Amino acid sequence: MAFAITQNCCNDASCIAACPVNCIHPTPDEPDFGKTDMLYIDPKSCIDCGACVDACPVDAIFPVESLLSGPKKPYPEINAGYFEAKPPAEASDPAPNFHTWNPPVFKRSIPSDFPMLDVAVVGTGPAGMYAVEDLLLHTSARVTLIDRLPLAGGLIRYGVAPDHPDTKKIGETFSRFYSHPRLRMRLGVQIGRDLSAAELAAQHDAVIYAVGASSAKELGVPGEDLPGSIAATDVVAWYNGHPEASATAIDLSGERIVMVGNGNVALDVARVLSTDPGRLESTSISRSALTGLRSSTVREVLILGRRGPAEAAYTSTELIALTEHEDIDLVVDAADPRVAEEIAAATGGKAALLRGVRQERIDFAAAPAVGKRRIVLKFHSESRQILGRERVEGVVVSEASGTREVRAGQAIRAIGYHGVPVPGLPFDASSGTIPNAGGRITGMPGNYAVGWIKRGPSGGIGANKTCVQETIGALIEDVVSGALPVRSRRSSMLAGLLPRLQR
Ligand SMILES: Cc1cc2nc3c(=O)[nH]c(=O)nc-3n(C[C@H](O)[C@H](O)[C@H](O)COP(=O)(O)OP(=O)(O)OC[C@H]3O[C@@H](n4cnc5c(N)ncnc54)[C@H](O)[C@@H]3O)c2cc1C
Ligand SMILES: NC(=O)c1ccc[n+]([C@@H]2O[C@H](COP(=O)([O-])OP(=O)(O)OC[C@H]3O[C@@H](n4cnc5c(N)ncnc54)[C@H](OP(=O)(O)O)[C@@H]3O)[C@@H](O)[C@H]2O)c1
Ligand code: SF4
Ligand code: SF4
Repeated sequence: MAFAITQNCCNDASCIAACPVNCIHPTPDEPDFGKTDMLYIDPKSCIDCGACVDACPVDAIFPVESLLSGPKKPYPEINAGYFEAKPPAEASDPAPNFHTWNPPVFKRSIPSDFPMLDVAVVGTGPAGMYAVEDLLLHTSARVTLIDRLPLAGGLIRYGVAPDHPDTKKIGETFSRFYSHPRLRMRLGVQIGRDLSAAELAAQHDAVIYAVGASSAKELGVPGEDLPGSIAATDVVAWYNGHPEASATAIDLSGERIVMVGNGNVALDVARVLSTDPGRLESTSISRSALTGLRSSTVREVLILGRRGPAEAAYTSTELIALTEHEDIDLVVDAADPRVAEEIAAATGGKAALLRGVRQERIDFAAAPAVGKRRIVLKFHSESRQILGRERVEGVVVSEASGTREVRAGQAIRAIGYHGVPVPGLPFDASSGTIPNAGGRITGMPGNYAVGWIKRGPSGGIGANKTCVQETIGALIEDVVSGALPVRSRRSSMLAGLLPRLQR
């Protein structure tokens, strides 16, 4: 009856190699890869063997018959829909591959007669761990894995929402490398503070920076600095128990929160704040966040998207999760007539998914209605000013007919993350990234970048895998071509400098 991929697919493509009949697409060598919200199983080709289920690190694949009811019920149709839009293959193509897919691409490796490399990887988030995986499985390198925090995992631990436990499971897949005989791990060591980038480079043949993008972008509107105006990064850190999070990051004593930006982070935060705390009790949510949510009086989260419903930044999968959420009343604000028109005219995509969602002209001057907690999606709308004397009392939002004041006790900007510089490395302040060419850090031979610090703060977990493959490919090219700097004190490295890392 076929299998189907569902909501928490992170596009890491692990299932593709497991499928004996090549029915999971797009594959990394196909043009669509990285552009779709998830991968899809062709129900016409799937032979029901279940091999992909074991390969998936986030438990995203299910037999279609188990999805006939419940919040994942749209997924069999979504999987099949992807293939309906594809042209059928020539009749001469061998079954069961009914479509014209490209041939697979095989990976390169360091020739076996090359000396063993010592490589440092800075950062234990997905990018760092895909780099570790690639180095340990495809080269004979010894790896020093470093993170500034006392616990490894990066945004898998401190970003992914606690009500996405299956996604967090990918941390278990990564953690199997912590005890690999060629890996040593140093937690609580910040490069640029405890050890300089130059010292680290001197101790290794190559250094890979996977330090992510931990700060929040600024809106630049009046009132942004008022108490009660915060970044989504702070709320995410709070509910995930980040060691540097403030226990009082968010004030939940008001009735309405205005969220600026409609990416997946905005949806995560709005969903967690609107979910019955009892449902979150068995998750990894921090105990102080759970206590805060139990006494929350928030009844509505208003999410502002500056573009229309078809161009919203969230993925279809996360929108579907909201439409199917039992605790949440999802509403589209109908003040702007373009929104209803765009939803009605959509032939597919995110706007069409809103067709079953109630549209209502919300009275933002009044307190939100009692009942289920409400999330309101408002499109073609931005915040112009945050209002209040001592703290946030409202937000001026733009809409087709001008501006309107929305009463709110808290304003959250979920407009994206931003990289922070590592002392000793070049930094592009406007993009928040380390300048690099295909992963090679500009002007610093032997130093490489991967993940969000390489390409900016966008893309899910799996996007870092292809990003890492490019960087490791560059590193291997440099090893083979002799472009890596020669380490003059290599033999004394382990005895002399390394103890500074052993904290
Ligand atoms: C709130 C949120 C939720 C998300 N949820 C999902 C999801 O459900 N599914 C999905 O597919 N994607 C999700 N993503 C996207 C995903 O988390 C990112 O694609 C991914 O984490 C980026 O990986 P990274 O390794 O570049 O950065 P990070 O995961 O941020 O890792 C960077 C690591 O570097 C360490 N570090 C930083 N500076 C230093 C230094 N100077 N010295 C030593 N260590 C340092 C940090 O402590 C951190 O551990 C989410 C992102 C966010 C922000
Ligand atoms: N469940 C998941 O899979 C999951 C969960 C969380 C995060 N992630 C991924 O992590 C990445 C980061 O997510 P994110 O939500 O932080 O970023 P994002 O997807 O880039 O969304 C940022 C949002 O902020 C808006 N914005 C940016 N600057 C603005 C400004 N000055 N004024 C008003 N609005 C502004 C953007 O609008 P425009 O679109 O108009 O630019 C967009 O709506 C994404 O790739 C996301 O998919 C995945
Ligand atoms: S069940 Fe088997 S045939 Fe179907 S997609 Fe998974 S691995 Fe491929
Ligand atoms: S998360 Fe990875 S393994 Fe699981 S379905 Fe998506 S691409 Fe396949």
